[in-house]
Amino acid sequence: MSVPRDVWGRQPRPYALLGWPVGHSLSPAMHNAAFREQGLQAIYVALAVPPEALGEAVRGLASLGFGGANVTIPHKEAVLDYLDEVTPEARLIGAVNTIVCRHGRLVGHNTDGQGFLRHLYAEGIDPAGQNAVILGAGGAARAIAAALAAAGVQTLVVAGRTPERAEAVAGLARRAASAAGTEVEATAVPLPSREAELCLADAHLVVNCTPVGMAPATEESPLPDGLGGLRPGTVVYDTVYRPAETRLLREARARALVTVGGLGMLVHQGALAWELWFGRPGPVQVMWAAAEAALRGED
Ligand SMILES: NC(=O)c1ccc[n+]([C@@H]2O[C@H](COP(=O)([O-])OP(=O)(O)OC[C@H]3O[C@@H](n4cnc5c(N)ncnc54)[C@H](OP(=O)(O)O)[C@@H]3O)[C@@H](O)[C@H]2O)c1
Repeated sequence: MSVPRDVWGRQPRPYALLGWPVGHSLSPAMHNAAFREQGLQAIYVALAVPPEALGEAVRGLASLGFGGANVTIPHKEAVLDYLDEVTPEARLIGAVNTIVCRHGRLVGHNTDGQGFLRHLYAEGIDPAGQNAVILGAGGAARAIAAALAAAGVQTLVVAGRTPERAEAVAGLARRAASAAGTEVEATAVPLPSREAELCLADAHLVVNCTPVGMAPATEESPLPDGLGGLRPGTVVYDTVYRPAETRLLREARARALVTVGGLGMLVHQGALAWELWFGRPGPVQVMWAAAEAALRGED
């Protein structure tokens, strides 16, 4: 860990989550458990930063000696304006979820898409050569579309209720593939629509990137007409992790499809942030157990 001892002595070095609001975040529990387990002199705090104070808060990270930060809703896009450097991947996605503070410089990264991908691989799922459908066209969709395109999916369909946003995500996926040296046939379709149904019937992987189904509206589904059109073996991934099993996943499980919940994406994006902050892998199992316990504590 790169803590200058002369400055910090035995004080723990601070890391932060910047969001608005941040009260329900699992990140403090997840990171502090990992700091403890690895014996790091560090502490992670959730800071509620109103949008009008974002610039001051971000610049304050450097002057207050923070080692790094995560960024969450609604600041992931706006934060780009206040950083010294942004990685090409985060620039392409247009969002930063992790900041590394080093020698007074703030560098922005995006670990959401790679976190999603690592979780997929950890589940034994390799999307290369497959047909993927993403539901939704917001920040999570952008990060995941870029990651899937770079990982070599054959087709990527972005199904969204706002056609221009879905088309923009498909365009982003094409640029991500080109930057990674892969090829993808990326298109956008309206959700819901007959075109979306046809694409879903042909999909190997369906990823919900809308908030539909999230607590408290747990009886909602981004595919309210059911999953009858999906073929056997389809992987259904829900980025929503409150509840752990959403209606979408429950219905997928009932049809014996492969189901994956979104908590692993949160854990792996956090473990990747660790790698950036400390230059070594984050302890995934410890982080996972702490995040799960924090989630259970909400029940
Ligand atoms: N597991 C993780 O680590 C992780 C990380 C990030 C996000 N997430 C999950 O992903 C969700 C989306 O996050 P985000 O940052 O992408 O949010 P966002 O930027 O607000 O995007 C939400 C997307 O969902 C669409 N949408 C919202 N309500 C809809 C509805 N009723 N029917 C159809 N589409 C709807 C929106 O449509 P429009 O384009 O028309 O606005 C938009 O495209 C979050 O709620 C969270 O559960 C999980």
